[in-house]
Parts: sequence; C-alpha cells; structure tokens
Amino acid sequence: MHKSEKPIVILGPMESESAWLIQQLENPTFTDIGAYRYAKGTIGGCPVVVCRCYIGVVNSAVAAALAIERYDPLCVIVQGTSGAHDPALHQGDIVLGERTVNIGRWFTPHRDWGTGVDADRWEPHGSEIVSIGPGEETMYLYGDKRILRVAEDVPNPIGKVIRGTIGAADIWNRELDMLDRLHRELCTECEEMEGFGVMQVCAQLNIPCADIRIISNSEWHEGEDFNEKYGEDCQKFVLEVVRRLIAQKTLL
Ligand code: 5AD
Repeated sequence: MHKSEKPIVILGPMESESAWLIQQLENPTFTDIGAYRYAKGTIGGCPVVVCRCYIGVVNSAVAAALAIERYDPLCVIVQGTSGAHDPALHQGDIVLGERTVNIGRWFTPHRDWGTGVDADRWEPHGSEIVSIGPGEETMYLYGDKRILRVAEDVPNPIGKVIRGTIGAADIWNRELDMLDRLHRELCTECEEMEGFGVMQVCAQLNIPCADIRIISNSEWHEGEDFNEKYGEDCQKFVLEVVRRLIAQKTLL
C-alpha cells in the first residue's frame, strides 16, 4: 500500500468530466478556493483530490496552480474529452499524452491592409517554460513516463489506447485541412482545451503531470459528433490508472 500523505490530483473541465470521479472518493471533504471546488478523499485508503477545473487553458492552469500550492501533490493528472486529429482514431479511443503542444500560439507573417487572412502561412511557436530554459521556446511538454507506463496497461473496454501528442489551446478546430495540418506538422493525435496550460504550470512548479484524453468527437467520420458520455468513460479509465499507481507505489 502506498503510504504518502501527498495526494494525487485529478482535474476534469466539465461536470461530465469530473463528477463521476468525485463520487468515487471515500470520505470526501470539500474546499472552495474562489470558483474552484476541491474534493479530497481517498481511493483504496490513499489521498486523492479531484477538481472540476472548468473549460480552457487559463481556468485549468489556475486550478492546477492552486492545487499544487495547497496540496503539494505527488502528481497532477488532467483528463477529459478531445477531438480527433488523426483520422484513424474514433470515439472511445484513448490518447495518453506522451507530449502536449500548444496549438494556440502562432506568429503570422506580415500582410498588407486589405489582403485578407491566410492561416496556411501562420507558423506555430513554442512557449516560454522558464524551468526548462529561460528565453527558450519549448514546443512540447512531456508527460510523466512512470504514469504513462502504468496507463498503457489499463484496458479500455470501448476502444484502443495509444501514446501520442495532444494539442491544446482555447480553440475548437473543425476545418479538416487544419486538423490534417496539425496532425502532420505537429504530430497531434487529438485536441482539447486544457492540457498544455496544466502541463506548463506543472513544468514550472516541478510537479509530475500527465494528460489523458478520450476521443469524444471526430470531424473525419460521419456520426461522431461530440458526445459528453465519453467524459465518464475517461474518468473510469483514469480511476483505474490511479488505483494502479497507488497499488504499485509508482510515484513513491
Ligand atoms: N476541440 C477542442 N476541445 C475539445 N473538447 C472536446 N472535443 C474538443 C475539440 N474537438 C473538450 C475541451 C473542453 C471542452 C469544450 O471539451 O477540452 O474542455
């Protein structure tokens, strides 16, 4: 049994991506910090904190920073739904974020007044992660290898489990040419709106982090529109990851 007093923190943006996990906590107590409610309880006797972090990079980054400051966690897991970039993925498939990339950071070449907008010429850029290198631009942040190792053995009853690159930004892309470009240029399997913010906070504060996403929608396939039910499937998968991290003392 893992003995640390430090909890594992799990973030999920929407109610449909966090409420089920909160219900699984043994002996939960609740702490509000502004708009954020942290549910702290135990799983198999070990401390776990679950927070609905709300949609978007800033909301989720704040939720992560406050959780780290208050609970000094063993790790942070950000999880929830995502949209497929890779046409080979379908609803129910799970992507383990080997790395996460900010797909909202673009530099555009100059264009004269009245000549329009050409997103094809925008260039993706990295982010400044001071803990990695002051002034350097980091394109990819890497998920904690120990968590990924454990997660890749967890069964997913409704789809496959792959390791890959997750794109995140305050954007919901539905243009197939953009999805294809991000998939080819940045190697993204899927996109969501929180992962990079949480990974960035964790990198800056030196806390292990992993982003785990389920495909809830794909523009590539007819009939695969967003369905929030996949939020619960992702939580079930993540709970099993957490049970195994605890049982195997992976983070101690
Ligand atoms: N693009 C962006 N975000 C998505 N989400 C699910 N699918 C997508 C998509 N195709 C997630 C985000 C956010 C919420 C709107 O759903 O992470 O939390």
